[in-house]
Amino acid sequence: MKAATHNLRCTECGAVITGDAVNSIFRCPDCNGLYDVIYPWSPNGSTAISNDNLPNASALRWLWQERRTSTLPVDQSGVWRFRDLLPIVEDPENIVTLREGNTPLYEMPRCAKAVGLDWLLAKHQGMNPTGSFKDTGMTAALSVAADRKFEWVACASTGNTSAAMAAYAARAGLRCIVFIPEGKIAWGKLSQSMDYGAFTVQLKTDFDGCVRILTDLVTRFPIYLLNSVNPYRLEGQKTPAFEILEQLDWQVPDHIIVPGGNLANSSALGKGFIEMHRLGLIQRIPKVSIIQAEGANPLYRWFIDENRVMRPVKADTRATAIRIGNPASWRKAANVIDALGGWCEQVSEQEIALAKAQIGAEGIGCEPASAVTFAGLKKLVALGKVQREERTVLILTGHTLKDSQYTIDYHRGELLTEAEKAQIGEADQARHEALRKPPIVLEADSDVVLHALESHMKMTQHV
Ligand code: F0G
Repeated sequence: MKAATHNLRCTECGAVITGDAVNSIFRCPDCNGLYDVIYPWSPNGSTAISNDNLPNASALRWLWQERRTSTLPVDQSGVWRFRDLLPIVEDPENIVTLREGNTPLYEMPRCAKAVGLDWLLAKHQGMNPTGSFKDTGMTAALSVAADRKFEWVACASTGNTSAAMAAYAARAGLRCIVFIPEGKIAWGKLSQSMDYGAFTVQLKTDFDGCVRILTDLVTRFPIYLLNSVNPYRLEGQKTPAFEILEQLDWQVPDHIIVPGGNLANSSALGKGFIEMHRLGLIQRIPKVSIIQAEGANPLYRWFIDENRVMRPVKADTRATAIRIGNPASWRKAANVIDALGGWCEQVSEQEIALAKAQIGAEGIGCEPASAVTFAGLKKLVALGKVQREERTVLILTGHTLKDSQYTIDYHRGELLTEAEKAQIGEADQARHEALRKPPIVLEADSDVVLHALESHMKMTQHV
């Protein structure tokens, strides 16, 4: 791999600095803006750009495909096999990989039918090594931490970033500190950070409060910050955009639908598509739409506000991964919506629960935060923003086992409050009833089991 060939550019004031000149909080000292990683081929990435500087598109496609059959760990990684477009590490020996990426793109025929589309696809980022899309970003930024000789790394998290960081830090032999909001993350995720050996701190605050404490800490000690304000995270998280195109034989889809929390993932995917377009790998760019939970909807409020003002909210949703009221990367995500012509929608707790059950019933499954994509798609179709024949890809960000308590509560009918249930319309009520599969307890007697099976068959024959 070549030496690092990138700079960082402030997304607010445009100031450009070298990668190693960035401060410990990854914010511009002049305007507090976040940075983007830029390369000679980035749009406005270099004043001296000429087409001779651009990597060759056809050669890249061939090379990326070829690497899939290699036995080298970096080639087997679905992030690093695209390393030509993320030259961020000086010494390739420092790359830390768990063979992330290369996730499946599934067809979702029943969900497509339910929403009135000809077809629908889901890119399942929950099929990564620690069960979420965070692995693609973590392999990138943690490799930079190792490359820059840090001994400690840290993040504040709603659970998935911390699980990913703990795993990659363990692989690299780095020490790590995790800050999570006490009692507000799913158990599966908490167990992962302990399993991988992180110093796990549950703070008596919410995610936004955890970020405040962490920001203070990294200015006082040489600890490498691995939250998504770290722009190298986004370099890894842009690679699913490349994979989607490869998996569609370079036919560009019309819409990409992403859940929105801290708003880095939507920004990263947008960056990936824009860079591919710049390199001539694709001739047009899909729309990227972002879906938030009603109880954690600052970007949605910004989107519908005439004056386009971002106001943080006090966040609350059962989709704990996206329980974020003051998203760090909101400006980047807003730029992606504006540049690519997508939308922002919000969905209720009932809508998330139904969408999650429908994705589960496809034999796919996902965590609640990922299900907002399908719930939001229903709204975009109803509003005429997504047409029947258009090709849409949902980004499923987390594995269903991340939050099994949510799933169990749903199927037992214990998830939603009576007030929430009362708001469900008749058609959706019927859908919930058909989807709910509460477990039953029986005597260990074949006749009893057969009898129960017969009545189950009768009850479900019309579904
Ligand atoms: N989906 C899942 C499963 C997540 O874990 C997150 C974020 C998102 C969606 C939203 O992505 O923040 O880039 O807009 N989880 C972070 C964490 C905040 O700490 O694990 P985003």
